[in-house]
Amino acid sequence: MQLYLDTANVEEIRQAADWGVICGVTTNPSLAAKENEDFGKILPTICDLVDGPISAEVISMDYEGMIKEARELAKVHQNVIIKIPVMPEGLRAVKTLAAEGIRVNVTLVFSVNQALLAARAGAAYVSPFLGRLDDIGQTGVALVKDIVDMIDLHELDTEVIAASIRHPEHVPAVALAGAHIATVPFKVLQQMFKHPLTDGGIDKFLEDWKKAQGGK
Ligand code: G3P
Repeated sequence: MQLYLDTANVEEIRQAADWGVICGVTTNPSLAAKENEDFGKILPTICDLVDGPISAEVISMDYEGMIKEARELAKVHQNVIIKIPVMPEGLRAVKTLAAEGIRVNVTLVFSVNQALLAARAGAAYVSPFLGRLDDIGQTGVALVKDIVDMIDLHELDTEVIAASIRHPEHVPAVALAGAHIATVPFKVLQQMFKHPLTDGGIDKFLEDWKKAQGGK
């Protein structure tokens, strides 16, 4: 399973890219709105920092608007993936864009039916939002597994991005559920490094080394 970073913050992306652990980035209008800079300026910078799929979302709700925005975004860099919500106008746009060779990540997926429709329309990726399902008392990881199983069973050419990841335990859960990609917030990526036995082990190694040097 690949890891993407779920943020529009350039500093977070720079750090995660330096650690060598991320293969792509996902953004959405809420994440872009948190930044002080215009997203039109941020997107090319992200593409320079990470040589992998970079999802940028359209905000139009009609087919013509989506297509216009998508074509503009796709011109920014060959790695730009267009994010479109799962809705009839959106899937119509997916079909047109896929025929033009523009890859789409269908977002806000909360059911196997939505994932199937997106895949049939030609989505390169589908993004089930597990944290938001957990929020309403359903099991997000179970949805990710069902979508992966459905895609495998019917040999559909769509990758599953487990999105709306809220804590480090979500990551192994979606990896074992077969997600192709997990997109994680920066805080979760930092938490993934952490284990008390690692921290304690490092302290003990350094302490023992220092003691031994003192005795020489
Ligand atoms: O990639 C989608 C993700 O950003 C949504 O996360 O935490 O707002 O549900 P969240």
